[in-house]
Amino acid sequence: MTASSRVAIDPFGVDIPAESARLRALGPVVPVELPGGIPAWAPTGYDALRSLILDPRVSKDPRQHWSLWPQLGEHPDWGWILGWVGVINMLSTYGPDHTRLRKLVAPSFTARRTEAMRTRVEEITEELLGKLAEAGSSGETVDVKAGFAHPLPMQMICELFGVPEHLHDDTGRLIAAIMDTSDPSPAHAASVQQQIGTVLPALIGYKTEHPGDDMTTELIKVHSEDGDRLSDEELLYTLLLVIGAGFETTVNLIGNAVVALLEHPDQLAAVRAGEIGWDAVIEEVLRVHPSIASLPLRFAVSDITVEGVTIPAGDAIVTTYAAAGYDPEHYGPDATSFDARRGADDHLAFGIGVHRCIGAPLARMEAAVALPALFARFPDLALTWKRDELRQVPSFIAYGWQEIPVRVTS
Ligand code: HEM
Repeated sequence: MTASSRVAIDPFGVDIPAESARLRALGPVVPVELPGGIPAWAPTGYDALRSLILDPRVSKDPRQHWSLWPQLGEHPDWGWILGWVGVINMLSTYGPDHTRLRKLVAPSFTARRTEAMRTRVEEITEELLGKLAEAGSSGETVDVKAGFAHPLPMQMICELFGVPEHLHDDTGRLIAAIMDTSDPSPAHAASVQQQIGTVLPALIGYKTEHPGDDMTTELIKVHSEDGDRLSDEELLYTLLLVIGAGFETTVNLIGNAVVALLEHPDQLAAVRAGEIGWDAVIEEVLRVHPSIASLPLRFAVSDITVEGVTIPAGDAIVTTYAAAGYDPEHYGPDATSFDARRGADDHLAFGIGVHRCIGAPLARMEAAVALPALFARFPDLALTWKRDELRQVPSFIAYGWQEIPVRVTS
């Protein structure tokens, strides 16, 4: 394939496994177009993705390493990408800047620190399950995403960052707008920028006036003590990243696991019987239905050749976690099927290398509390829509369901 015959990525992410297969048939690294026509390279298999992520010649800093960065303003439909690469935080930095920004937050999310949050996760879980039981007590359909999978991680991250109740809804709307890649219009991009410019300053303002025992207060302190360690912009965008990544991804992990188990009653029965562990379920969901299907963007610092394809210096690369999970050469011919007995614990759904997810222990712990509690509380839990009626969130980045209608009692 040549760079002139680019394949457009579906901005709605309607059928990510089929799209991954189509791209894989074209080669190990394929020239694609992201929404609005942004050119990028997409690795289509596990090995190609892994080697690119780990390659020190691959950067995440568009300001230094994307040849198209100076021209972004000339393309009105490219503005949406700024919500991803125009923000200055650990996700979009390279080298020492990345190390500095990551160090400010990562120690708060180690496995040990996360374990200390378990009791609170259990309490929120019980509270939400009680409300769900009440709402569905007469056999009504309830949305297990809106009533459980969403509020649990949202409440937890808001407590960790001291986000006051009156900013929860705005925060939820902002992150959903960033994840929505179906509308690359300048109006949508402007709305995202406007929301970033109001919601985060409102949080910083509130926590400056009402400091507490929370991570926003800690970051504000670092910023005011030493602006070199954390500038104004970095404070705002670090909060945006960690709060956003801290709930939206885990919402979809829990939701995707619920649907996968309800769709595979034989595996659910084996889980209930203790023959398959919850950890195995969670890892398989991450492989086959990763909350982040693809992530924009990385950049080639110099020409890089992967499996015979050369990505020229300055070009963009999209990080294709879902495609890696569907690679038949790595996971076999049934790679797109959910099989919790597979034991595929080498998935890349949390990334790998210096940018690997700092929240993986928290996400895993929340799912490991939420899922057994949900299925224990509702032995007759069942989807009330057919699988093909469920709608994917409109995104090629986020991978999850818009709603998950269920019955909680028979
Ligand atoms: C199922 C849940 C989650 C998934 C699938 C997920 C996925 C990922 C992936 C794939 C990356 C790597 C990005 C890259 O290589 O460019 C990443 C990074 C990151 N994640 Fe997560 N994440 C999840 C939960 C969380 C949670 C709960 C938090 C917050 C506590 C979080 C915070 C972050 C941060 C701050 C980074 C950036 C790290 C860096 O660039 O150094 N994530 N995540």
